[in-house]
Amino acid sequence: MGFATVILAAGKGSRMKSDMPKVLHPLASAPLLAHVLRCAAEAGAAKTVVVIGHGGEAVQKAALALDETALIVEQASQNGTGHAVLQAKSALAGFEGDVIVLYGDTPFISPDTLDRMLKARTSGQDVIVLGFEAARPDGYGRLKLEGDSLEAIIEHKDASEAERAIRVCNSGVVCADAKNLFALLSEVGDDNASGEIYLTDIIAIARSKGQRCTAILCDEAETMGVNSRADLALAEAAFQRRARIEAMDNGTTLISPETVYFALDTVMGADVLIEPNVFFGPDVSVENGAHIKAFGHFEGCHISEGAVIGPFARLRPGAEIGAFGKVGNFVEIKNAVVGKRAKVNHLSYVGDADIGAESNIGAGVIFCNYDGVFKHHTTLGERVFIGSNSALVSPVNIGDDALIGTGSVVTKDVPAGDLVLARTAQVNKKGRGKRLMDMLRAKKK
Ligand code: UD1
Ligand code: CA
Repeated sequence: MGFATVILAAGKGSRMKSDMPKVLHPLASAPLLAHVLRCAAEAGAAKTVVVIGHGGEAVQKAALALDETALIVEQASQNGTGHAVLQAKSALAGFEGDVIVLYGDTPFISPDTLDRMLKARTSGQDVIVLGFEAARPDGYGRLKLEGDSLEAIIEHKDASEAERAIRVCNSGVVCADAKNLFALLSEVGDDNASGEIYLTDIIAIARSKGQRCTAILCDEAETMGVNSRADLALAEAAFQRRARIEAMDNGTTLISPETVYFALDTVMGADVLIEPNVFFGPDVSVENGAHIKAFGHFEGCHISEGAVIGPFARLRPGAEIGAFGKVGNFVEIKNAVVGKRAKVNHLSYVGDADIGAESNIGAGVIFCNYDGVFKHHTTLGERVFIGSNSALVSPVNIGDDALIGTGSVVTKDVPAGDLVLARTAQVNKKGRGKRLMDMLRAKKK
């Protein structure tokens, strides 16, 4: 039946000084909680329970948006980590298998690490705790190990001087059989420095019953938790460092890696070249051989094979750039398809539109998609040429091979192949220019 995860996300996160629940703060353009849900899914969790509390409504909404199969339970008052896990008992009633407890504010635990814990279970351990050697153990629960056997976890607040000297600390991640976990938790009391029901107390109880408990160790980088905005910035830096290396390992060239920012879900093809100062927000995919020039901001968009984007390009949600398409400097594209080999090279806004293959949008063309109340759609056929500084007032359809003269304001549909000149006709007045200037200069004297 596989294993289940219980993600603790009820805490307030007071040190964030925020109205937003801590687990919803963004890391790599995704809520902290998304990182943990992704780890659970990648490790192959059969069920995931999210324990909500502070800001519960928002956390529930986000959790279900990220994973519609997530089971949500509420911890009405935050009486400790053990109490939080107990809230998942009814959601996991009848579940036979192991449970792994994760924290919503600890985003970097790897699926491999969960795998190692599950393997320790199959090899006969009853309760497995994920530990790490802390550079600064202050504040963490300490693992009391005798050889491989974990005897107890002592919270920092409750620890003696000798116990505080222990450097192997509790990450918070625990694995045990579901029934056993809830049975052990039912025996945990709150007689400790915080008056809380500690999840960590299950170890001493399990040992007193002759159960086998052990710790699996991981790198401290994996157990890094987010408690403050400064922690969040450190976590972001750590994420980006790894993401850049991963991108390069997968065949992306980064000229200046430290200036490129990825999101949790960014997808990069091979042989993509990214110049300095590029930011990828959520939901961006880039296909093989694309070239992203310096200074770009991208979210919710798709860049096809061989496309050349930027410098100074902004692609907003729904932008879909076709193969070998070109988007040049100071161009913004939103909810629009730019067809294969089509070009929008200079100073344009394209919103709510379809641009057919091989069309060319001249410099400074604006798609006027918004009438102040509603948004409207513009459709361009293939090989359409829009002269510079034209305005396309949507809704408007322009057929294949149409040619729009420079500076046109297009308000009516254009049949295929037509030439459109929608601007005031030019008037030349013989010699008037010079006479006018002479008169003005004379006035100034
Ligand atoms: C906990 C561990 C400690 C470990 C440390 C690692 C216990 C008793 N202590 O301590 O051994 O070294 O994590 O970071 O388990 N939460 C709830 N409901 C609650 C209490 C907490 O959902 O009632 C959630 C919090 O939102 C947070 C997580 O559980 O995501 C950990 O809680 P926190 O209060 O930070 O635990 P620590 O005291 O740091
Ligand atoms: Ca903590």
